Amino acid sequence: MKTIIYYFTGTGNTLAAARALAEELGGDTKLIPLRRAMHYGGYTPEADAVGIAFPVHFLDMPAIVRQFVFNILFSGTPYIFALATCGERPGGALFRLQELLDEKGYMLSAGFSLLMPENFIGPVDLMGDASRREEKFAAAKARIPEIAAAVRERRVLVPEGSNSAFWKLGGRFTRHLATCVYDTPSRLHATAACNQCRTCERICPTRNISVEKDGVKFGNDCTQCYACIHWCPNGAIEIGGRTKGKTRYHHPDVSIRDMLDQRGE
Ligand SMILES: Cc1cc2nc3c(=O)[nH]c(=O)nc-3n(C[C@H](O)[C@H](O)[C@H](O)COP(=O)(O)O)c2cc1C
Repeated sequence: MKTIIYYFTGTGNTLAAARALAEELGGDTKLIPLRRAMHYGGYTPEADAVGIAFPVHFLDMPAIVRQFVFNILFSGTPYIFALATCGERPGGALFRLQELLDEKGYMLSAGFSLLMPENFIGPVDLMGDASRREEKFAAAKARIPEIAAAVRERRVLVPEGSNSAFWKLGGRFTRHLATCVYDTPSRLHATAACNQCRTCERICPTRNISVEKDGVKFGNDCTQCYACIHWCPNGAIEIGGRTKGKTRYHHPDVSIRDMLDQRGE
């Protein structure tokens, strides 16, 4: 029984969760960064079960994951499942995935959400302290065997989260707030703490960053995963003034090497 799990990650939570799930599933289970699959062109997974793992952004799927799913072609009728990691609430993210697959004539058989440490840096600090993060790691670890059992048994389950209009609207509102009002993509900048180590340039999943003689340049293709902000070893990347002095985070078992692998380098 072959299983493929495609993943996207900004700060490692989703990769760590997908790895744990792959390990629990055992046998012929393969993890593939969806970014890399996209980079090399077409992707038609040949497997009995195909998983899609991603972080929830604004109670929805990140744009890059939507784009990946939009272009995927399945061979045969595999069991399709999803794993969405989130800081507090998955909202309708798994329902949006279900809709998208539906439109393509595929069926999402099960969608699981898993609480992990928050990586969104908002106007208020949502990230919590180290003890809250440890609680989330422990609860997530305890849940993985249950998810693996459901996948192994090919259970058909309603996606987790909520498909209510309230959360749909909330997601759109917060995305609008972050993208248009706080203007996250165009307010990204490197401060004087930058030593031009190029970590941001090398890990950015959309290749949206370049380090040049006259500073760090950010393009127009930011998927708002916050990888550059959290992985900068000098804490030099900020969004306007709103991230200043706020906690940086990445999953302790995920490395910069893993982030490079995600891009296929
Ligand atoms: C731009 C952005 C928006 C987010 N929106 C949500 C959200 O709506 N609900 C939630 O529970 N977590 C939200 N999060 C938190 C992430 O979903 C969570 O920390 C996730 O585990 C990060 O996974 P990663 O490390 O694989 O990127 C958001 C994070 C970012 C960067």
